[in-house]
Amino acid sequence: MAFYSDELISEIMAANDIVDIVSSYVSLKRSSGGYMGLCPFHNEKTPSFHVSQSKQLYHCFGCGEGGTVIHFIMKMENLDFVETIKYLADRAGIALPEERSFVSDEMHEKRRTVFEMNKEAARFFYQRLEDAQKGQEVREYLAKRQLSKKTAMKFGLGVSGSSAGELLEHLKAKGYSLEEMLLSGLIMKNERGCYDRFRKRLMFPIFDLRSNIIGFGGRVLDDSMPKYLNSPETIVFNKGSNIFGLNIAKNYIKDSLILVEGYMDVISLHQAGIQTAVATLGTALTEEQARILARYAKTIYICYDSDEAGRKATLRAIELIENTSAKVMVCDFTGAKDPDEFIKLKGTEAFLRMLKSSWSAVMYKIELLKRKYNLDDIEEKIAFVKEAALILAQLKSDVEIEAYVGKVSDYCGISRESLFAEIRKNVAKNNKQDRSRYYKDKNVYNKREIKPNMAEGKDAFTTAKLYEAERALLALAAERKDLFSAVKEKMSPKDFAKGVYQNAAEYIYTAWEAGKEPDAQEFLNSLPADEVKEASSIFFRIVTYHDGLEAVNSLMHTIQDEKLTIAIRNEQDFMKKSELIQKQQLFRKEGQV
Ligand code: CTP
Ligand code: MN
Repeated sequence: MAFYSDELISEIMAANDIVDIVSSYVSLKRSSGGYMGLCPFHNEKTPSFHVSQSKQLYHCFGCGEGGTVIHFIMKMENLDFVETIKYLADRAGIALPEERSFVSDEMHEKRRTVFEMNKEAARFFYQRLEDAQKGQEVREYLAKRQLSKKTAMKFGLGVSGSSAGELLEHLKAKGYSLEEMLLSGLIMKNERGCYDRFRKRLMFPIFDLRSNIIGFGGRVLDDSMPKYLNSPETIVFNKGSNIFGLNIAKNYIKDSLILVEGYMDVISLHQAGIQTAVATLGTALTEEQARILARYAKTIYICYDSDEAGRKATLRAIELIENTSAKVMVCDFTGAKDPDEFIKLKGTEAFLRMLKSSWSAVMYKIELLKRKYNLDDIEEKIAFVKEAALILAQLKSDVEIEAYVGKVSDYCGISRESLFAEIRKNVAKNNKQDRSRYYKDKNVYNKREIKPNMAEGKDAFTTAKLYEAERALLALAAERKDLFSAVKEKMSPKDFAKGVYQNAAEYIYTAWEAGKEPDAQEFLNSLPADEVKEASSIFFRIVTYHDGLEAVNSLMHTIQDEKLTIAIRNEQDFMKKSELIQKQQLFRKEGQV
């Protein structure tokens, strides 16, 4: 909250329904009062993980984890608060204000200048493309590549100047200093002076998700080298964390997206109506890009070039995507070197059919193996089976293994039984490793769990009862204004036994007194991370009662009685202890201290 306004955070939360979000990690079933499923934060066999759509909260009655959609993503994706806000904003297509707090004002200013300059350059490149003479050659090139004018405009394509200083002169005329121009990477400097980085190239502006132009790619119009030149890394351009075409594709992606290698592939697919295609920026897919893609799509189709480099890149991308929540599929477009060529040769329908018959990652790996070995040769066949068994042993379920064994058996004529036997050997090995990992995880979990109980020491039992009653009391106070008044009459926030409860009471009291209903999400978001879990259990509680006031009184009674019990235990002085015991007996008889 230090960085984003409460209104913005509320807007982002409202746009990310908790049931939606949780469903992409946990299989949820409807239950009374909401949804439930197996807790993703601890190991359990029977569901104790609850999600309330009306409250927009989750809570696990097993391990106690709980909170809002923000806390869920923080935990699940291991992100900090600000990263989580960005993640959820991105997912909902909500634009965030510039990240002022991360960068100094000066840096912020510089970045803005570069964005503006990039936009100015893109305009300059576009005007040259439109120019009767200057744009002639590139227009012919675009026609040769069968790209329409509309497509070129949609992607903001253009052409760079033909001499060394055209853009430089243009930017100078627009009032930019040399120093600023160098920051953008559009202008370079050597011993002889400053000059345009891009010359006689078809220009592809690269947009971020907020539609800022962060850099450019430039393609030659002939066969000269290098084929592509990209902007260098600058204060606004990071190749490993941006994705070409995602600013457009994000509006079309439903469940899946298509990852291709080249800018040309993206543009060509979009023109053909496949608007979910995106590409990296001339470098191999990074972990960060994989994570970004997984936020937008449940399934990612890798559609890299069909050459050796493309296959290698595919295997690397599979690894990265498998580490995210997304499922990965691999396309096979034999007969064309890349998606651009494929769609031009065979058309959109054929492309969609090809997607449908794409391979799972496992099948793709088996397929590559099959091509590597000559299965007519016995030695090679054995090597194939051993390697295939290694791949299949990594599968999570027997059902999956079974499904693939049939195919592998068909390929090489080795019986299913022999294949299973070979796989089982590997599974046993894997399991041993997995189990030790599991125990390690479990220890971490246990350590985290045991601590708070230990801290309660010898009073654990009685204090637990006190805490329980206080939580219920707060839950009632948050639910009904009249019950809040009754609670407030007897207890002020500082009378509660734990800091978290005092905070909660403070919040609930202030809210009602300001004439608004306490909002659990607002409260939880204002707490430090280590208090959220406990605080969420307050709001998630469902207190059943016939008569609210009676429930409040009874809880109040319990609290006072518990406080006396604790005081008695803690009192060292014999006389005072005796007084306290008498007091408690009287209290139990008369109902008053
Ligand atoms: N690339 C690059 N530098 C190069 C070659 C390629 O940065 N010298 C990047 C570009 O981002 C390019 C991608 O790698 O888009 C894929 O390369 P390639 O398949 O050669 O380019 P395409 O975009 O498919 O272009 P075309 O179809 O015109 O050859
Ligand atoms: Mn290509």
